Amino acid sequence: YNTKTNFPENFLWGASTSAYQVEGAVLEDGKSPSIIDMYEHPKDTAGFRIASDYYHRYKEDIQWFAKMGLKAYRFSIAWTRILPEGTGKINQPGVDYYKNIIAECRKYKIEPVVTMYHFDLPYCLEEQGGWNKRETVDAFVEYARVLFEIYGREVTYWLTINEQNTMILHPGAIGLPKGGTLPTKKELYQQNHHMMLAQARVMKLFHKMVRNGKIGPALNLTAMYPASCRPEDAIAAHNWVSIRCWNFADVPVFGTYHPLAFSYMKDRGIAPEILPGDMEILKDADPDFIAMNYYSTATIGASRNDSSDVAARAGDQQIMLGEQGVYRPEENPYVDKTKYGWVIDPVGFRYTLRKVYERYHLPILVTENGIGAPDILEDGKIHDDYRIDFLKKHLIQMKLAIADGVEMIGYCPWAAIDVVSTHQGYKKRYGFIYVDREEFDLKEMKRYPKDSFFWYQKVIAENGKSL
Ligand code: BG6
Repeated sequence: YNTKTNFPENFLWGASTSAYQVEGAVLEDGKSPSIIDMYEHPKDTAGFRIASDYYHRYKEDIQWFAKMGLKAYRFSIAWTRILPEGTGKINQPGVDYYKNIIAECRKYKIEPVVTMYHFDLPYCLEEQGGWNKRETVDAFVEYARVLFEIYGREVTYWLTINEQNTMILHPGAIGLPKGGTLPTKKELYQQNHHMMLAQARVMKLFHKMVRNGKIGPALNLTAMYPASCRPEDAIAAHNWVSIRCWNFADVPVFGTYHPLAFSYMKDRGIAPEILPGDMEILKDADPDFIAMNYYSTATIGASRNDSSDVAARAGDQQIMLGEQGVYRPEENPYVDKTKYGWVIDPVGFRYTLRKVYERYHLPILVTENGIGAPDILEDGKIHDDYRIDFLKKHLIQMKLAIADGVEMIGYCPWAAIDVVSTHQGYKKRYGFIYVDREEFDLKEMKRYPKDSFFWYQKVIAENGKSL
C-alpha cells in the first residue's frame, strides 16, 4: 500500500437522496402518482407521502449541504413531476422545481449528479403494462430527451436507472402492487431487457445532445466470497456474482449479456425475447463511468438443492436471498452486521471496487454507501459514532483501492439527509442531517446536524488527508 496516495484533486465528495424518499408532496403542483405512491409498503406511515418534506424545504437543506462542504449532491428527478402522463405534456412547475434545485447547488458550487429514474415509474405507465411493454422504452427515451433538453447544459453527471438489479431480482423490495401479485421471473427478465434497451437508447441520445456530459448506470454491486475453498462453493459464488451483478453491468458496457447468466436464464425458460435489431441497440450504450451502490458483501455456498436454499440468509438484506439449485447464502463469521442485519464489510468495499474496475476499466462513482440506524436526538445532538466508524472504515478502504489503481470520480454516501428507508420506514435513518419526525408523529421536522455531519465536513475540507 502506497501511503502517499491521496484522494484526487476535484474528487467529488458528495451525498445522495432520491426523490420519493425525501420530497413528499406526492400530488402537488401537477405531479401524478408513481408506483411507489400506489404500492403497499411494509411500513406505510406518512412515509413516502410526506417523507422529509424536502419539496418545501430544499433551500434550507441545500444550504446545510453547502455548510457540510459537499462538492456533489446526487438526487433523482421524479418522472411524474416532469411528465405526469408518462409522456406528452410537460409540467412546468415540475420542470422549475428541479431547475431551482440545480441553481441552488450551483450557487454553492455543488456539482449536481442526477438520477433519471429511482424506482418510481409513473403509475399511469404501469397500468398500461409498465416495463413489460416496449412502449415504456419509448416513453423513457422521450422523458430523457426532455431532461437533456432542459437540464443538459446545467448538469454534467447523469445516472440512468438506479439499481436495476434490485428491481429485477427483488421486485418486492420497492413495494407490492395493491392486492396484486409480483411478476414472474420470465416477466422480470423481459422487463430487464426492455430497461436495457431504454438505457442504451438514452445513453446514445445523451452523447448526441449533451456535450461534455457523462452518463452511467447505477447498480448495486457487491463482491462475494465462496463459503469455503470447496470447489462447489466457488462455482456457486461465481454463479451468484454473475447473475446478480455482472449480468446487469455487462450489457451497458459490453453490449452483451453475461454468458453464464444468459444460460441460467435460458435453462429455466426465463430468457427474454430478443427481437432483431435489439442487440445492435444494446451495443450503442457506451457509458462514461460506472456508478455503484455498495452496502454489503455476500458469502455464498453450494446449493443443497432443496427449499432451504431460499430460506438461507446472510443477514437480512433481501437482495442476498438464495435460489434453489443455484446458490445459498451463508453466514460470514469475519464480518459485523448492522442493527438491521446487513453485513458490514469495509474491506469488501475495496475488493468490490477492484473487481468492478478490473472488469470494466471505467472510472467509478460511488452513489450509495452507508449505515441505517435508529438515531437518537438528545438535547439537539445526535451522537452517531457508529456511522462515523462505518464511513471512516469504508473511506480508508476506498483510499486503498485508489492506491491499488482504481480510478475514482467521487463518493456519494447514503444519505445527505434523513430519508424514508425503502424497506423499513422512517425509523431507520441514514442521513448526516437529522429530520425531527417519528414514524407517525410528523412534529416540526426541524433539521439537526449529526456528529457525522461535522466529521464529514472535516474529511471534505482536508480532502481525506488524515484518513
Ligand atoms: C438502495 C436504494 O437499494 O438502498 C435506496 O437505492 C435505499 O433507495 C437504500 O434507501 C437503503 O435501503 P433501505 O431499505 O435501508 O432504505
